[in-house]
Amino acid sequence: MNVILKTFAVLALSVASAATAIAHSSNEKNPYIVHRQGIYQVAGGHINALKAILMLGHPATTDINYHAKAMLEAFKHHGNAFPSGSDKGKTHAKQNVWTDAEDFKQHGQDAGKALMALIKASESDDMKLIKSKFAGVGKSCKNCHDEFRKKGSH
Ligand code: HEC
Repeated sequence: MNVILKTFAVLALSVASAATAIAHSSNEKNPYIVHRQGIYQVAGGHINALKAILMLGHPATTDINYHAKAMLEAFKHHGNAFPSGSDKGKTHAKQNVWTDAEDFKQHGQDAGKALMALIKASESDDMKLIKSKFAGVGKSCKNCHDEFRKKGSH
């Protein structure tokens, strides 16, 4: 097979598997649910990468700042993630997201502050400080999940 044909064969394969991955991810049709879960998954991916670096000894310490910033950037694209009507569908959001909207918003702001503290710390070489700010971020995610996300969800 020549190079161009090979490239197309590989491309065709990856398009097929991307379509399968999308088909498998969820049958949810509410755009707000699909969108916000996608953004949370992006944040979750960066948290996992940071955990590998900060807690399991992965050597990519120069990427800590990237992951922290990318997480904040992802959340900036959350937009109005929980408009009324976006409780209709397969969501793990609890009803109090809508009934205690002020408290929910406060938890979001706390997470934003924790992320900014991690970004700032990651501009230094102080690993102890970075780790403590990372713990702060993890706590801010958990605080909100404990209160506003259904138990047993991933
Ligand atoms: C202000 C509240 C709040 C904060 C802060 C928050 N989350 Fe969430 N998170 C939620 C809610 C609510 C859901 C459920 C969304 C749904 O199912 O519609 C969720 C869902 C998720 C999911 C599952 C997405 C899926 O596929 O269903 C992941 C992963 C996640 N959050 C990661 C994080 C991480 C990492 C952080 C911290 C950096 C964080 N969250 C901070 C409220 C929050």
